[in-house]
Amino acid sequence: MGVVEDLRPIFSPKSIAVIGASRSPMKIGYEILQNILVQGYTGKVIPINPETPTIMGLKTQPSVLAVKEDLDLAIIAVPAEFVPKVMSECARKKVKGVIVISSGFAETGERGKQLEEEILQIARRGGIRLIGPNTLGYKDPIDSLDAAFVFGMPRPGEIALISQSGALCIGMIYYANGEHIGLSRVISVGNKADIDDADLIDYLSADPATKVIAMYIEGIKDGRKFLDAARRCHKPIVAIKAGRTPAGSAAASTHTGSLSGSDAVYDSAFKQVHIQRAYDVIELFDYARALAYQPCAPGNRVGIISNGGGAGIMIADWCESIGLKVPNLTKKTVDGLRPHLPSITSPRNPLDVTGDARFHRYHATGSIVLSDPNIDALIMTCVHAGIARPKEYVGAVIKLVEEKKNLKKPIVACWVGGPEIDEVVQELRVKNIPVYSSAMRAAKAVKCLYDEGGRQDMVAGKKHKEPA
Ligand code: COA
Repeated sequence: MGVVEDLRPIFSPKSIAVIGASRSPMKIGYEILQNILVQGYTGKVIPINPETPTIMGLKTQPSVLAVKEDLDLAIIAVPAEFVPKVMSECARKKVKGVIVISSGFAETGERGKQLEEEILQIARRGGIRLIGPNTLGYKDPIDSLDAAFVFGMPRPGEIALISQSGALCIGMIYYANGEHIGLSRVISVGNKADIDDADLIDYLSADPATKVIAMYIEGIKDGRKFLDAARRCHKPIVAIKAGRTPAGSAAASTHTGSLSGSDAVYDSAFKQVHIQRAYDVIELFDYARALAYQPCAPGNRVGIISNGGGAGIMIADWCESIGLKVPNLTKKTVDGLRPHLPSITSPRNPLDVTGDARFHRYHATGSIVLSDPNIDALIMTCVHAGIARPKEYVGAVIKLVEEKKNLKKPIVACWVGGPEIDEVVQELRVKNIPVYSSAMRAAKAVKCLYDEGGRQDMVAGKKHKEPA
């Protein structure tokens, strides 16, 4: 069986047993059962608990062996020392997949490593695929299945998130919700005893709901398997690889039992297979949103429009310092821009449309610059100066993005100001238009879209356009 068929019972189960489903609202086994029910899971759910006949109105069973129906998935939330016993019962019951929520395995030292190896062997002998141990579970906002503890679902969308840290995973969901970034599947992988990043890349590569794969990684055990999966994957991958320094690496080994490895090796391996590397959560989602919702840049030449000269200069600096170019505009573009600009402004790149720019000036200049054959991508910027009209700027960006789809050149938005303009640009986020609160973030997002062009050319066997 291929990985997609192997993992389907885990991610699209027809029946789920929650082993360690608890009567106590303070316990993780209670929360998992509650989350499954709250999201309205339509398959069969069976709480397993030998101490009580019912939980949340559902009849319990003392063990999976007492369950009559076939079981696709068992979620295990009993203390680590009992996991081998319940896993053996799952194997006898021929459960297809398990998620081991319990911690107390490789992340705790030698004894834990042995326990992890023991449950892995039980899974292998029983033909069971295993997520974890030491995982939060997964949350699937597309199919409304919350197979995790911690309350709350992501906004549905097209970015899949794989995280080796459970707590960070929840933080990232809340961050994405606040940014109006939708997620397709969120999977906490924990110690990755069996199912690892490579398996999930293969699985998500075939997932019609997912456009981009975003990852938080502490360590990868089988580098070749990972690189082969990344190379096969026909969707963009963005990844944070944490544990880059001796201090970070030591913390990762006690967190998920990971060996962080040489950062330089990860860096060059990621480059080989065109994984875009991010260094924090904000950057991860900056790239993921741009990749999911804008075309890749056909070249590295950027047009910059702003209503404040300083912002334009900073963006130009950032672009040029990361391998993008801010080229001269053609004569036709310069002539076309002149009638739309105040006489004090000279049409050039970066273009200062001045502080009194309104909808029409943003829209007309954006449209002309984007059509210039010297330009591969556009950064539209609004500084919230006294006479600025952020609402009109937002309207112009939305219209440009809608009108200029056929040009296949990315447009990203950038702003400088306080909470008032942040509120106004929310409309761009709602429409999935990449919008950034700094010159650096906007320039890096465009670089990411240029590099994505390189990945797509590699996949298509084409030569990537040389940087200007
Ligand atoms: N089969 C089924 N149910 C069993 C059982 C078994 N073999 N053994 C115990 N249970 C029941 C218990 O009776 C209890 O139910 P109750 O509260 O109604 O009595 C329930 O399962 C939970 O068992 P308990 O011993 O109370 O464990 P716990 O809830 O205190 O802790 C874990 C279990 C898994 C949550 C805990 O060991 C753990 O690992 N916590 C950390 C999890 C974590 O952080 N994971 C990583 C996230 S990123």
